[in-house]
Amino acid sequence: MAQARPYYADRGLSAAFYDVVTAADARLAGDVDVYAGLAPPGSSVLELGAGTGRVTFALAERGYAVTGIDIAPAMLEKAQARLAALPAEVAARVELRRGDMTTLDLKRTFDLVICPYFTLAHVPAGAAWRNTFATAARHLRTGGLAAFHLPLLEIMRMPGPPPEMVVMDQPLPGGGRLNLHVLERTFREGVGRLDQVIDYVERDAKGAVVRRSAERLTYYLADPEPLAASAGLLQDREPIPLGGVGEVRVFRKA
Ligand SMILES: C[S@@+](CC[C@H](N)C(=O)[O-])C[C@H]1O[C@@H](n2cnc3c(N)ncnc32)[C@H](O)[C@@H]1O
Repeated sequence: MAQARPYYADRGLSAAFYDVVTAADARLAGDVDVYAGLAPPGSSVLELGAGTGRVTFALAERGYAVTGIDIAPAMLEKAQARLAALPAEVAARVELRRGDMTTLDLKRTFDLVICPYFTLAHVPAGAAWRNTFATAARHLRTGGLAAFHLPLLEIMRMPGPPPEMVVMDQPLPGGGRLNLHVLERTFREGVGRLDQVIDYVERDAKGAVVRRSAERLTYYLADPEPLAASAGLLQDREPIPLGGVGEVRVFRKA
């Protein structure tokens, strides 16, 4: 099998085509509305794992002041390019920084902390989750909310499709196409860990392969409630279902 790069690696195709893939992913529809429903426009928001700014910029367009942090330079580079193209009035409400959500300390607080699209599941459940909840608590005003979008266990359990199957086929500017295949999918329920290798294949208008990159993504799953509580974050409401594959867990800083 092809050697797999880590997800969102520099020169990897998961970062290069992140916006193409998420724009086509109906399972994310409505997530920005969920986060916007947790605090009024004008509120300050910290996004942990902001990626290329999909949620950051959508919230800034609605009037929120958003600080987005991410660990991956390839994702931040795309976010900076998108930021430069925003109207000045919207861009003025955005700050992007490189940072690790398990250790971040900006020495300020926000009205709302969000961690969309399974980002918490990218770090191992246990100490890294506990530290991320501590980061959220450290950056929240008393009474502020923290929202974490997490995958459902039943989705983790689903078997992978055959590797030759194209699971996503999207048009690219210039007439080419992006095809995705799942080369590997292994869920170890006992340890709450899903390993996937996704093959990104960029084709030209005639179908010839231009670039391809097999990339490994690991998701970790656990009950977030006790880990959040250890950081002083208490469950605020019932989980909010999102896209049939995940739910947003909302906690309040006591
Ligand atoms: C699935 S993307 C979500 C991006 C964006 N929030 C969205 O909803 O489109 C996950 C992001 O989390 C980032 N990430 C993973 N581990 C991180 C960490 N320890 N600290 C900060 N960012 C991290 C990745 O680099 C990636 O950009």
